[in-house]
Amino acid sequence: MSRKNQTLGEFIIENQSEFQYSSGELSRLINSIRLAAKVVNHEVNKAGLVDIVGAAGETNIQGEDQQKLDVMANNTFISTLTNRNIVCGIASEENDDFITIEGQGEDHKNKYVVLMDPLDGSSNIDVNVSVGTIFSIYRRVTPPGSPVTLEDFLQPGRNQVAAGYIIYGTSTMLVYTTGHGVNGFTLNPAIGTFYLSHPNMQFPDMGNIYSVNEGNYNHFPNGVKKYIKYCQEEAENRPYTSRYIGSLVSDIHRNMIKGGIYIYPKSSKAMNGKLRLLYECNPMAFIAEQAGGKASDGFTPILDLKPTELHERVPFFCGSRLMVEKAESFMSNS
Ligand code: AHG
Ligand code: MN
Ligand code: MN
Repeated sequence: MSRKNQTLGEFIIENQSEFQYSSGELSRLINSIRLAAKVVNHEVNKAGLVDIVGAAGETNIQGEDQQKLDVMANNTFISTLTNRNIVCGIASEENDDFITIEGQGEDHKNKYVVLMDPLDGSSNIDVNVSVGTIFSIYRRVTPPGSPVTLEDFLQPGRNQVAAGYIIYGTSTMLVYTTGHGVNGFTLNPAIGTFYLSHPNMQFPDMGNIYSVNEGNYNHFPNGVKKYIKYCQEEAENRPYTSRYIGSLVSDIHRNMIKGGIYIYPKSSKAMNGKLRLLYECNPMAFIAEQAGGKASDGFTPILDLKPTELHERVPFFCGSRLMVEKAESFMSNS
């Protein structure tokens, strides 16, 4: 049951019973993400006013420069989740290895692990363009009470029990799924409350937006080159509109509302593309499927891939169902 203007807090409580293992633990976990999102939103909104934009002077395991807000968002989510003792492990884009949460007594019974991209599109911060947070939640596969292992994090996306994103845009929204559709909540910043503004979000089956970094065109596989030409020269209602923000969260959010496809393919420069399977593609793929869209690596559904490494990358095709299927047909015929 969902009602417009319901608060996120009310929605979480009222829908708790939909969850097959409803112990309240998942609800408390989503509540903590809601809290951390408000803190990060407050900091992101001040970017430009105080000395928090720009590089932090460190690189992460993937060789990317960490922005100060990457570090702040990472610390905020980790401390919010850790202090509440509701997860047993966290993996983040900004940490080389996963974090084991040591609990005391009953706390050892925590069943969930969280994987996250604390600040997505962070190179956009300095120019005041939308950024996001992406999260993915699994039940651990090793027994509660023991320290988490890599196996708890390397689960196929199909096993996700919840996933979502926060978009810090012209307004701030939290969009998530627990496997019963996708709902979006908009923050009223004056009172710090998220309200249900986008119930039961759906990707239109078809759209006319394609989102890809065409600067890399010459390095793309033939199937992607042909699909881009199809969008420009052959498709019904051609030419499609090209829209690429360079923040995965914002590009997918727009395409879910308007209809479109997002592609980050492999290229001769990056053999597996750029996006990370565990905390970028899997959560977005879960959202996409729950909203009637599709997500694949060009051939195989993202949610069926078996991860082998925490920070592995994968080509990503995500969006309106018929558009992804069309792009896949160009991939398999080239
Ligand atoms: P992050 O800021 O978490 O490293 O992610 C950036 C990602 C994603 O948000 C975006 O779609 C993509 O990088 C853009 O990459 P290009 O600049 O190569 O197009
Ligand atoms: Mn990212
Ligand atoms: Mn990031």
